[in-house]
Amino acid sequence: MKIAVVGSGYVGLVTGACLADFGHEVVCIDKDQARIASLEKGGIPIYEPGLSELVNANIVSERLAFSIHLSGAVSRADVVFIAVGTPSRRGDGHADLSYVYAATREIAKALSGFTVVVTKSTVPVGTGDEVAHLIKAENPQADVAVVSNPEFLREGAAIEDFKRPDRIVIGLDDERAREVMTEVYRPLYLNQAPLLFTDRRTAELTKYAANAFLAMKITFINEVADLCEATGANVQDVARGIGLDNRIGAKFLHAGPGYGGSCFPKDTAAMVKIGQDFGSPMRLVETTVSINDQRKRSMARKIVAACGGDVRGRTIGVLGLTFKPNTDDMREAPSLDVIRGLQDRGAKIVAFDPQGMDAARGLTENVQFADSAYDVADGADAIVLITEWNEFRSLDLDRLKSAMHMPIFVDLRNVYRPHELRRHGFSYVSIGRPE
Ligand code: UGA
Repeated sequence: MKIAVVGSGYVGLVTGACLADFGHEVVCIDKDQARIASLEKGGIPIYEPGLSELVNANIVSERLAFSIHLSGAVSRADVVFIAVGTPSRRGDGHADLSYVYAATREIAKALSGFTVVVTKSTVPVGTGDEVAHLIKAENPQADVAVVSNPEFLREGAAIEDFKRPDRIVIGLDDERAREVMTEVYRPLYLNQAPLLFTDRRTAELTKYAANAFLAMKITFINEVADLCEATGANVQDVARGIGLDNRIGAKFLHAGPGYGGSCFPKDTAAMVKIGQDFGSPMRLVETTVSINDQRKRSMARKIVAACGGDVRGRTIGVLGLTFKPNTDDMREAPSLDVIRGLQDRGAKIVAFDPQGMDAARGLTENVQFADSAYDVADGADAIVLITEWNEFRSLDLDRLKSAMHMPIFVDLRNVYRPHELRRHGFSYVSIGRPE
């Protein structure tokens, strides 16, 4: 299959590289000339394990190319994926579809022969209808089928998720498109990944429902963690005790500082808006959004309490800034709320993150960035572990403690065992576990 991917950001790049690896001929397109020039030389603009190797291997085998010229690649393509951003619109939480519609207009003009146009971007219900409408308005002769094929990739595990998905959801109303999409994903039949064919609106809604459900699951266990703290119970054992029930499932039951990232906060807010627009309010999701926002802010209070109620003039060391490990993404990261909250209470912040410090520099003020976890500890009055990078899982605790001014360790990801830290002489506070 000849495939054009419009938008060479995170989703577009992963999609393009994986589809090329399946054996398709793929061109990834982007308006950003510098980005394309760098990609052509194998320069990857984001940190995603395995992506650089995959892109380079497929450039060498000539299955993957990059271009700023949409029309040539689209006119030759059997399938065009739209993978441009759908950020939250400022002010109202709606998904901003201006990039999707701008791409659609350009694609419409370039179409030639039967083409399947697929929205990969996360878009509100009914966007596929609007895309089909725009294409017809722009190019009435176009022979096109519009398909919704949402992505379920996790940052940090995106290639694995693309190549070994739990399912692929495809929304369409055209038999020819069904054949084309079956061909696109044929290599995955070997992995027995179910292709779930449905209509377009259902596919669009499925994406929001999946993310909202996962966000609710995290928020539920976070509230249970608070209850554990109040009652003296242990949230990790509760999570295990409920997660072994197959109807509940063990994943996404890790209590922490609240979910962040480029997806859950944006998609839950957008789903709330969709519910309101259609007069069918998503009250559980509304509550989830508000609990999570409060939770991210409340973490600073927890840290202050662990420091004896006052952090004025104290130095707090932060381990981990990104919204989760194995990414350089700082969007909606809980660390931002924690740092702001501690600074408001007069603390001085020293921080280290293996990949997120460049992005963090632009999003924080008066933070001193260190070169390692041990640098962070140097003279600190407390350490707060916010993101569970592997390198923070096996710290030399004696070395850490001897570098610190006060041995206070606040573990917002329950990476360590309480008795272990206490044995090393730390005052240790974690999430939802007995002190
Ligand atoms: C999420 C979904 O997991 C993907 O399926 C989806 O495709 C993607 O959004 C998207 O819509 O593009 P992602 O945002 O990369 O993926 O990251 P997750 O691994 O889902 O983590 C999101 C947040 O939840 C992180 O802040 C993480 O620390 C937090 N989390 C996750 C918890 O606090 N506890 C958990 O048990 C799991």
